[in-house]
Amino acid sequence: MRPTYASFQALDRQKQIYLRGLSGIRPRVPADMDQLATQAREHLSAEAYAYVAGGAGRGLTMRSNREGFRAWQIRPRMLRDVSRADTGVELFGRTLPYPLLLAPIGVLEMAHREADRAVGRAAAGLGLPFIFSNQASVPMEEVAHAMGEGPRWFQLYWSKRDELVASLVQRAEACGCEAIVVTLDTTMLGWRIRDLDLAYLPFLRAKGIAQYTSDPVFQRLMDEPGPEDLTQTKRKLTPQLLRSVYQLLRNYPGSFFGNLRSGRPMKAVRTFINLYTNPSLSWDQLAFLREHTRLPILLKGILHPDDAQKALDHGMDGIIVSNHGGRQVDGAIGAIQALPAIAGRVQGKVPVLMDSGIRSGADVFKALALGATAVCLGRPYVYGLALDGEAGVRAVLENLLADFELTMRLSGCTRISAIGPDTLQKTPVHG
Ligand code: FNR
Ligand code: LAC
Repeated sequence: MRPTYASFQALDRQKQIYLRGLSGIRPRVPADMDQLATQAREHLSAEAYAYVAGGAGRGLTMRSNREGFRAWQIRPRMLRDVSRADTGVELFGRTLPYPLLLAPIGVLEMAHREADRAVGRAAAGLGLPFIFSNQASVPMEEVAHAMGEGPRWFQLYWSKRDELVASLVQRAEACGCEAIVVTLDTTMLGWRIRDLDLAYLPFLRAKGIAQYTSDPVFQRLMDEPGPEDLTQTKRKLTPQLLRSVYQLLRNYPGSFFGNLRSGRPMKAVRTFINLYTNPSLSWDQLAFLREHTRLPILLKGILHPDDAQKALDHGMDGIIVSNHGGRQVDGAIGAIQALPAIAGRVQGKVPVLMDSGIRSGADVFKALALGATAVCLGRPYVYGLALDGEAGVRAVLENLLADFELTMRLSGCTRISAIGPDTLQKTPVHG
């Protein structure tokens, strides 16, 4: 591979921040990722913060995602001329400037009005792929348009109707997505206690269902008679209920009064609930997807090496080791803890990506050293979005990239392929 020196450079970022400091200007977006979450919280409603920051159950898996990184230490090497570093990686025929993608995250409108558009523009500006969420707030075509030539993938939730799956995948191809990510770990939503205690689910307010409402097959399915569901259960008429209905009518595309007359928003939510998602999904069904797309297919949510093996046996093109940021099974293994065995089983046959808990350059470095081809960033970019829209996302990405590039060079690595198992050691128990 030819060296690709990314247009973005860590030292420039560092210099820019320190030089602005001479004029008394401090960054709006903190470099400290914990601080980032704390500051973003002030810009988010209680419901939005709970939804983004929260996990399943008591949050044990979210903790494991972080602690798993502490179990490894980097062993830097010296005197290796690290005046330049090639941070590029090749993934499905494209050279990425850094081994970083933006994880699919739903309902970004809860963080910022510009939602997926702002994230898409920030990602495109740095040449990083943005994985469009199936639960996005903005239809994929619109985000693709906002991104220009920027790389993009599509994340699929396999609904109960295959014709909807086929339609979403076809739209993804048409708007230039370069891979399909099938998320396997959320065939039902996990038991998320913060959301439950606020009794808040964004989808019931028509938030995060833009890929559906913009879909011709979904629009047709809306007119089919559906089974009894949540929206038909008796509700207590309170001022809040009227407010919820008002919001629903406003969130749905089209005019408020048009929506009131047509009743489409209620139908959309009802249809969504009936179709999302598909707990009966099984390995055999992957063949359907293969028939309907020529794009590489990755499975997201793999935590067991035997499932990684099955993915290979079913001809999948990649794996994303992930526990959904600890939002699904509380007590599940930390993603970084699951990575070595999976990478060991896959043996480089397909790319192995990883997410859940990436918060620093050292985290990215460790994931690569343990066998990941690239990693996906999740919650931190949502916090950047909440703080400062597109610029906030860009700042978070630049901070992480700068941190990673410096970690890599200061550890004596000038190529991504140099970041191997030898660069790490297990943290001593009392270390
Ligand atoms: C997610 N994630 C997610 N994954 C997915 O495949 N489709 C989706 O629509 C969403 N939506 C979503 C919303 C929110 C608010 C969060 C925080 C996460 C999971 C996401 O892709 C990724 O796996 C996690 O965010 C990784 O964990 P960390 O690093 O963000 O803690
Ligand atoms: C979530 C879904 C949308 O984690 O993936 O909230």
